[in-house]
Amino acid sequence: MFDPAVFAARRDAYMKAIGPTSVAVVRSLPERLRNGDAFFKFRQLSDLQYLTGFAEPDTTLILRPGAEAERVVMFVRPRDPEMETWEGRRAGVEGAKATFGADAAYPATELPAKLAELIANHEELHYALGLDEEMDKLVTSTIARLRKLEKRGKRPPHAVVDPRDALHELRLHKRPEELAHLRKAAAISTEAHIAAMRTGRPGVFEYELEALIDYTFRRRGGQGPGYTSIVGAGENATILHYVDNRCAIAEGDLVLVDAGCEYDHYTADITRTWPASGTFTPVQKRVYDIVLRCQVEAIEMVKPGITIDDIHNHCVRRLTEGMIALGLLGGAADDRIADQSYRRFYMHGTSHWLGMDVHDVGAYIRGGKARPLEPGMVLTVEPGLYIAPDADAPPELRGIGIRIEDDVLVTEDGCRVLSADLPTDADEIESWMARIQGR
Ligand code: GLY
Ligand code: MN
Ligand code: MN
Repeated sequence: MFDPAVFAARRDAYMKAIGPTSVAVVRSLPERLRNGDAFFKFRQLSDLQYLTGFAEPDTTLILRPGAEAERVVMFVRPRDPEMETWEGRRAGVEGAKATFGADAAYPATELPAKLAELIANHEELHYALGLDEEMDKLVTSTIARLRKLEKRGKRPPHAVVDPRDALHELRLHKRPEELAHLRKAAAISTEAHIAAMRTGRPGVFEYELEALIDYTFRRRGGQGPGYTSIVGAGENATILHYVDNRCAIAEGDLVLVDAGCEYDHYTADITRTWPASGTFTPVQKRVYDIVLRCQVEAIEMVKPGITIDDIHNHCVRRLTEGMIALGLLGGAADDRIADQSYRRFYMHGTSHWLGMDVHDVGAYIRGGKARPLEPGMVLTVEPGLYIAPDADAPPELRGIGIRIEDDVLVTEDGCRVLSADLPTDADEIESWMARIQGR
């Protein structure tokens, strides 16, 4: 975890951004049942983790930039020896103050009683409505209560403001310590992809590769996958979010692996597609090289001033030209782009922001237009071609799915590929496979 000073600096930056007449409320999401009485493992809401490093459930952070006392207030689960015996250690109210930088901390159960006092007489309440119904109810009922207290000098906030503009702008621009985490997540993910390539051959099950990937993530100190790993062999690779991962790899299959490690709340998002037998068939290589050339060109475009739309439009053009060359589409590329028939084989966007969340926060549009990239932003570049087994396509192309996805940092003069240690070139993949599989 980062030094407490990192979280303090983030809170200061956020409080400066919202200004002294605002108050911010950030609350963890409720723990979720998986089945019966068993819960999913808890993972802190990224906004709250970003501002506190406090990973426990039932936590609320209230920031009051203009306050003289109690600028940083936390509501947390109190210490409780019996509960801690069952559920694990808690920092408690004292820990929130001593370790996590709260000026004041209270037991979580006191939030409903104290919230009105803490948010009264501020112009704006920065709070993400729509994530947690229970908390939304508490916020709206507190506002309603404050309306009735005006004569006693308490006013409700004039506006409830979404965290997008201030907090998510901060998260979108990665600081050096965040980039170090993303590099680490990419390095562990690279090792996991290599483990999958080493073992992935005909007869091996997709879940065996998923297990190796998970093991590598955990063994190297990651928390696990930042999103459910996709391991799709053969025609399973044409299903964008294939997560069943239960089939055996067959002779001649391409294997698509989309897997990224989460390291201390920062995730990589990397896809490679490789031939289980060690060599691409000529037709697989033709399709692969269309995606690869497009991906290489797209990454070369990444620099300040370019937009994600520019990158996507370039990929759509290149891939559509490829579809025509392969006989998947007829006519001219301009026409197939205009009538969107390329979407039969390329139906997703090319890039998204990457950070604490795999599809990270940050506005894509500003003033009605795609926003230009800036140094410190991190995005994926992930073109693909997906030819379903029942597609109206030349038979030899049916069932081929290819995606190549890298994680790219925008720099002052261009970009750095955080996942560059994993090869994408088809020849290089073949020689790697031969070497690591000992063929
Ligand atoms: N792994 C999710 C994505 O590529 O967006
Ligand atoms: Mn992605
Ligand atoms: Mn991905």
